[in-house]
Amino acid sequence: MKKIGVLTSGGDAPGMNAAIRAVVRYGIYYNMEVYGIKRGYEGLIEGDVERLYRRSVGDILQRGGTILKTARSKEFMTEEGQEKAAKTLRDLKIEDLIVIGGNGSLTGAKMLSDRFGIDVIGIPGTIDNDLSYTDNTIGFDTAINIVLDAITRIRDTSSSHQRTSVIEVMGRHCGDIALYSGIAGGAECVLLPEIDDDIEDVYKKVTAGIESGKLHNIIIKAEGYNIDNEKLFSSLKERTGRNVNYIKLSYLQRGGSPTFRDRMLATQCGMTAIDLIRHDIRNRAIGERDGHIVHYDLTEALEMTKGIDYDLYKGVDVLSM
Ligand code: F6P
Repeated sequence: MKKIGVLTSGGDAPGMNAAIRAVVRYGIYYNMEVYGIKRGYEGLIEGDVERLYRRSVGDILQRGGTILKTARSKEFMTEEGQEKAAKTLRDLKIEDLIVIGGNGSLTGAKMLSDRFGIDVIGIPGTIDNDLSYTDNTIGFDTAINIVLDAITRIRDTSSSHQRTSVIEVMGRHCGDIALYSGIAGGAECVLLPEIDDDIEDVYKKVTAGIESGKLHNIIIKAEGYNIDNEKLFSSLKERTGRNVNYIKLSYLQRGGSPTFRDRMLATQCGMTAIDLIRHDIRNRAIGERDGHIVHYDLTEALEMTKGIDYDLYKGVDVLSM
C-alpha cells in the first residue's frame, strides 16, 4: 500500500481542514495509507506523525484552523533541519508529501524535492493570495468576506460620527485582501504594498468626499504598505478636519468557518493531489485558473509573478467619488 503524508504549514487558513479531509478520504478510497504530520515542518523534523483514517477527519469540513496544527519552523530553514525532515519520511516509508500552505511552505516543499528527491505536491493554503500561479488560495475568500463584514459595520458608526476609518488588513507583501475588500466594500482608498501612492492624493480624495457630503471615509490599508501610521492619522485629521479611527482586523481574518468557495477549492485541490499521485505525476503545485483546477511544475509555479489589477485599483477610486 502506498504511504503518503500531508501537512499544513505557515499561517493557518480557513479551508485547510477541508483540504485535509479530501486528501485523507480520497487517498484511502484509492488504497493509500495517509499520515498526518503535526505542526508543519516542525513535526516532520521531530517525527510527530500519525496515521489518519476516514473518521479522523470527521466533522472538520466546516471548521477553520487546521486539525494538523501549523508552525513556522526556523529549524527547517537549515540544512540539518531539512535532512531530519527527509529522514522522517524515509524512515516511515512515506513516498509522497502533500504540503498545504503559502509561498514559504511550498518553497520548503520544493527544497525537499530538489535536495532529497522527495516527491511533493503543493496545495495553496493562505489567506494572503500571494501565490502568483493561482487565481485564488484557500482561505482568501473567507478572509475577504470577514473584512467585508467588518467594513459594513464600521461604515455605520463611521457615518454616525462622521469619522474617517483606516482599516488595516493582512496579506504580508500582497495587497489582494485590501484591494478586493476595498472594491467590494466601497472604500474610498486602498493603500497597497505594490503601489507607491502619493499620499497627498489620499488627503485630497477624503477632503473632496467630505465636501460632496460624504458622512464616512473608509481607507483600507494593507499591512505591507509602508507608512508611519501615527503620521498618517495625524495628517489625515489635520488635512480633513475629521477624527480618525484605526481598526486593525488582525487574526479575526484568519479564523472562522470557510466559505463555499474556499471549501470547494480546498476539496478539489485535495482530490487533485491524490489523482496526481495515483498517476505518478509529482512535484506539482495545484491551483485555480479561470474557474478550473490546474497544476503546474512546482518550480515554475513558484517563479511566476503577478502584478496588481490596475483596473480594480482605479475602480476603487472612481466608484467611491
Ligand atoms: O500568511 C498569513 C498571515 O496571516 C499574514 O497575512 C500575516 O502577515 C502573517 O500571517 C502573520 O503571521 P503570524 O501568525 O506568525 O503572526
